[in-house]
Amino acid sequence: MKSDSDWRISADNSLLRRGTVAWMHDAETWFERSFERLPETIRVNPLRKDSDSVEAWLRSVGAEPMSWYRGPGSSWVMPFERGGAEGEVRKLLISLHETGRLTRQEAVSMIPVMALNPKAGEAVLDMCASPGSKTSQIAEFMGGMGVLIANERSRKRCNLLVANIQRHRSRVTIVSNHDGRHIPYLSGEEGYDAILVDAPCTGSGTTRKNPEVWRQWKPSGGLGLHSMQFGLLNRAVDLLKPGGRVVYSTCSLDPVENEAVISQILQKREDVRLIGCSDNIDGVSIQEGLQSWVPTDDDMRPLEGSPWAHPPSEEISGELSKCIRVRGHMMDAGGFFLAIIEKKHVQTEDVLEDISEVRFPEDSVQASQPLCEIDRLAFEKEFGGCDKPLWRRGKRIAIGTERMLDVWSKRTIVSNGKAIVEGHRWRPMNIVHVGCEISEMRSGRPSRIIEDGAHLAREIALDRIVKIGDSDFEKLLFGEALETDCMPPDKTDIRGGWLVSSESNPEPLPVWIGGKITAMVSKHEQTCRVGLRGLEKV
Ligand SMILES: C[S@@+](CC[C@H](N)C(=O)[O-])C[C@H]1O[C@@H](n2cnc3c(N)ncnc32)[C@H](O)[C@@H]1O
Repeated sequence: MKSDSDWRISADNSLLRRGTVAWMHDAETWFERSFERLPETIRVNPLRKDSDSVEAWLRSVGAEPMSWYRGPGSSWVMPFERGGAEGEVRKLLISLHETGRLTRQEAVSMIPVMALNPKAGEAVLDMCASPGSKTSQIAEFMGGMGVLIANERSRKRCNLLVANIQRHRSRVTIVSNHDGRHIPYLSGEEGYDAILVDAPCTGSGTTRKNPEVWRQWKPSGGLGLHSMQFGLLNRAVDLLKPGGRVVYSTCSLDPVENEAVISQILQKREDVRLIGCSDNIDGVSIQEGLQSWVPTDDDMRPLEGSPWAHPPSEEISGELSKCIRVRGHMMDAGGFFLAIIEKKHVQTEDVLEDISEVRFPEDSVQASQPLCEIDRLAFEKEFGGCDKPLWRRGKRIAIGTERMLDVWSKRTIVSNGKAIVEGHRWRPMNIVHVGCEISEMRSGRPSRIIEDGAHLAREIALDRIVKIGDSDFEKLLFGEALETDCMPPDKTDIRGGWLVSSESNPEPLPVWIGGKITAMVSKHEQTCRVGLRGLEKV
């Protein structure tokens, strides 16, 4: 493994170092701070009922809240380097992450979602979403209402995204698998309210996390990505409703991947305007966008004849100062770029008149469908009345939002307004995951509420929660099997998958009741429940 001094030698002669001299007035200060290890930074999930206990624990181990973080929930700097937790703190930190109570995320990476400021009830697209740290942050901002499409081009990275969304346990997210440049329109809607394009980039701002960048970065990297980055942003604007907003972001410092992309969208489209820095990121150390730059080849010779890589007019050049370069080195963090764009209201033709074709493509058998009447009756018979939108995929049952049902049921305009795809299907969207999984069908009936759905049990399975004594509850947490006589008198003969709570533990815990009662939770959940309450085995 390379030492810090080895990286320093690669960095001294790197193309990146030479590039940054042209991109920031204090390139030397940035360079000197580009080797320090990043601190561990995290976000606490406000959608979980025990988030206050998580925050209290963080304080107790010396974490400091990040004063500039705006949004529901909170973000924290741990008193150690990234990956440097030890002992009991490490154990609980991992379990809190694995159970979705917190998300480890680099500090600067939290800023684009703060700037986008997604709201409850909106339709939001996260166009390049995997591994999903910003997706989960958007879901926190939306507070369980609306619909969030988290899209990813790579099928393999979609799996990682799904795992992270399920870990986070929020219900607003749908995962789609498309090249972002060709995502279909949102069904039956005027368009998205808000879109994040966290574009694939050279990562030239990530030297503190990934020192390989010193060796790997070349100007041709950004030049090679520029047209894909523009294509993603351009499609995002197509998909926005008038008045909607898009945040374009990268973790690169190279203007070819940043201001040049924004310059091109301002030049090509009349329906966009660049918004200046918003109040939502007050307190973040920023530099204005660059108004001019000179792209170079890999020998750092100026490249003439690449007009798209320069701001084309004085007017656009002036506008580019509204772009936001995050000065990571002044915030003990990495570097980031973002721009906030609004779609203007412009008169459009009524495309519906031209429609000449109606298509009925089938969803795959693996796609989620709203729970059918028979399954819903079976669900309510097991768990009690439930008016929440539920979905079934194979054997799995998930909870979603009302807005998801709208997206599924309405028709979608395709082929530039020349055709429509009928509703009551996901097509033309290729959807691989919906909502938060809460239960599973076994032998034609829902078997039990699983750990991932237990925090929602009061909304979906009220009849299945039984209150027991505090000390019995705590024995379950420590892995003891209880006799069934600890149940209330009218419940001593119940069997199967249930949930228990107690006076001091209102958050329901899944249990299995057979001859005895045992907790049905993962080691991570158990660690969190015990650790956050400071319980000790007596
Ligand atoms: C910078 S990463 C996104 C990080 C993510 N937003 C987060 O905060 O966790 C860019 C992602 O875009 C994906 N990607 C690359 N090209 C894409 C395309 N044409 N359409 C959609 N996603 C794409 C990459 O596979 C990668 O997962």
